[in-house]
Amino acid sequence: MRVIITGGAGFIGANLVHLLHRERPDWTILNIDALTYAGNLENLKELEESERYRFQQVDITDEEKVREVFAAFQPDAVMHLAAESHVDRSILDPMSFIRTNVLGTQILLNETRNLDKDVRFLHVSTDEVYGTLGATGYFTETTPYAPNSPYSASKAGSDFLVRAAFHTHGMDVVTTNCSNNYGPYQFPEKLIPLMISNAVEDKALPVYGDGMQVRDWLYVEDHCSAMLRVLEKGKAGETYNIGGNNERPNIEIVRAILSHLDKPDSLIRYVQDRPGHDRRYAIDASKIKNELGWEPSWTFEEALPKTINWYLDNRGWVERIQSGAYRDYYEEQYGKRLTD
Ligand code: NAD
Ligand code: TYD
Repeated sequence: MRVIITGGAGFIGANLVHLLHRERPDWTILNIDALTYAGNLENLKELEESERYRFQQVDITDEEKVREVFAAFQPDAVMHLAAESHVDRSILDPMSFIRTNVLGTQILLNETRNLDKDVRFLHVSTDEVYGTLGATGYFTETTPYAPNSPYSASKAGSDFLVRAAFHTHGMDVVTTNCSNNYGPYQFPEKLIPLMISNAVEDKALPVYGDGMQVRDWLYVEDHCSAMLRVLEKGKAGETYNIGGNNERPNIEIVRAILSHLDKPDSLIRYVQDRPGHDRRYAIDASKIKNELGWEPSWTFEEALPKTINWYLDNRGWVERIQSGAYRDYYEEQYGKRLTD
């Protein structure tokens, strides 16, 4: 089995590459990633000597390059994770989200179809496409799309393109819509790693609005095992929600981090709310459970301390991101400069 992973140098992609390398020893993995600010090859340094893993710097919006790489590698499957992923950045700079998330996804679909062989295409999306919930209810696979941020709107657009590729061209596509992830290698602009590193440094912890927005948190390794299950067992043209039945208000997460680190609640700063901030996300994951037999393995009580300890044990990883030194890693390993 030959698999292309897009966005494998990012948070979830790197965790997925590690999981596949460990659990599917007869697979060859090609990671294509543009190495934007969110891509960090240090996340995969243990695999550099592996004969079953390789990396190529590819921007998925570069059609010719994608065609060349796909033709040379001849994948049996594509797992598409590359994306601009941060809501706050999408409010400031929506165009890069449209380019990568919408245009990039269509280019990958085109070049997968051009291969003229059966290739399974797993499209990795988010629960944010469904918009926001009130105090009750859950997102199911039939909840109408109602994205509220440029990020979620661009992901919704990409989901529709994947749907169209199935209905129009009969492509072998599957889509997953997952809730918020946490775990190792998450870029420290997202809630959990940001709060951990600020707390460690005795800096203020910025909580948006009243801190009572609810997210449904899933440990990243569980997301990776779900993607693998859908790739191997999912039905073409279907979408699968992924979540861990673990809803928490943001302020509860922030307090749990402070308490684990033995830091005072006085570090909390309530700041201006995010424009258009979705109030609550919650996933009904019964379809993937009933049809594919997937369930999360980690509880929040186990995986949050594990995650906090990973960031404590890997302070150097965070510091190299904060200083920008992580961007030099590519040049040191590959002897050439990053092209962007
Ligand atoms: P991330 O921002 O950590 O990583 C994204 C990766 O994509 C980076 O390595 C970046 O260099 C790469 N990339 C960006 N633009 C690219 C381009 N034009 N060409 C090639 N590579 C490019 O994101 P993440 O949190 O790991 O998310 C991965 C996927 O999972 C995304 O599609 C996201 O929408 C989805 N998702 C994320 C979450 C979450 O909680 N983080 C939840 C559900 C779904
Ligand atoms: P984030 O990690 O950006 O994920 P998403 O917006 O995709 O859900 O944010 C998670 C929640 O935490 C969200 O409700 C916004 C909130 N948040 C803060 O309160 N402060 C922060 O500094 C950040 C980054 C997020």
